Amino acid sequence: MQTQWDTLWHNATLVPVDSPTTPSTIRDGVIASKDDKITFVGQACELHKPFDQLATNVIDCQGKLITPGLIDCHTHLVYAGNRANEFNARLEGKSYSAIAKAGGGILSTVRATREASEDELVALAKERLHYWLNEGVTTCEIKSGYGLDLNNELKMLRAIKRLQRELPLDIVATYLAAHAMPPEFDAKPAYIDYLCETCLPAVAQAKLAQCVDAFCEDIAFSPSQVKQLFTTAKSLGFSLKCHAEQLTHQGASQMSASLGALSCDHCEYLDEVDVKALASANTTAVLLPGAFYYLNETQKPPIALLQQHQVPIAIATDSNPGSSPVHSLLAVMNMACVLWQMKPWDVFVGVTHYAAKALGREDSIGQLRLGMQADFVMWDMHEVSELCYALGANPCRQIVKNGKFREI
Ligand code: NIG
Ligand code: FE
Repeated sequence: MQTQWDTLWHNATLVPVDSPTTPSTIRDGVIASKDDKITFVGQACELHKPFDQLATNVIDCQGKLITPGLIDCHTHLVYAGNRANEFNARLEGKSYSAIAKAGGGILSTVRATREASEDELVALAKERLHYWLNEGVTTCEIKSGYGLDLNNELKMLRAIKRLQRELPLDIVATYLAAHAMPPEFDAKPAYIDYLCETCLPAVAQAKLAQCVDAFCEDIAFSPSQVKQLFTTAKSLGFSLKCHAEQLTHQGASQMSASLGALSCDHCEYLDEVDVKALASANTTAVLLPGAFYYLNETQKPPIALLQQHQVPIAIATDSNPGSSPVHSLLAVMNMACVLWQMKPWDVFVGVTHYAAKALGREDSIGQLRLGMQADFVMWDMHEVSELCYALGANPCRQIVKNGKFREI
């Protein structure tokens, strides 16, 4: 008999994330998929036929929780080498900025990444990404930014494209054009001109990135330099994201919001005027507890102010070899609660619906809704707060990506 759906999961507690501000669950829930889309979300009593007449495969979830697949909307997962030596130096009192100014930091990863082949970068990133795959992440953003010159950046972006093709995970590629000053340039304005005149058009033509990002900081680039980069990037059709107000207040968030950026990331030094600018531009604040934790920061992002002005808040790992060598989105969800007193529900929305929004994908992922991509996860737990509560546990039991089971 021809059934209307491919697979139906029943006896589940569904967390549809239909309202970001109001936690809701569907008890005795059923979710179904056909091809790669969600075709039903609701209660069993809404269905008027036996399950096996509706779907070819019927799965009893035994009361487990089903949420949208998790989304890590800010990572730097493609790189070579590691910076354990800097971790030691920081423990001895050297700051992240001092290490960067002395030619370490991002530039030390640039040296290792320039030496690595595309195949090596893919292999290294694949090993790391297994942690994400196993924790129910179904979409992940990955930035370039450790090549700096055009050829090395294209190598990183091609590696990201191969990961997208070879792994059961959607990847959003971001060209992190202005991450640090490459040693072969002596002046920042000349490097920004090179990015605008040579690199951005080449990356656009190669169709290797959807977003452009920059690091606006006194150890990196100024708001006016980033503005020049973003204006060109926008005219070439890229979406914008910015590392803004992480270590000091520079004013990048207002500038990025005025250009309609998808997100401003880090945000520790955001003030109320910045928060209002994000609110009126509908720009998502992506908060990164892993970097805050590893750098032993004390300035917390203004979470209450962001919430008061209804700025969407996403949470991400920022996984990178320097400021956040974290391999677990679940761990940073816990950090957001413990270090910043965020509510588990708000953190959960920050790795589903609002993370999708930070990537410009909120119409297709991040919620359990009819017509959305069938990306969801079955967890061995009873309520969403358990996702944030246990550190080092992995309650992920089954992953469905584009309507298909994914091996864990
Ligand atoms: O998001 N702030 C700039 N970029 C990364 C750090 C990259 C690195 O240290 O390698 C961040 O924290
Ligand atoms: Fe980052």
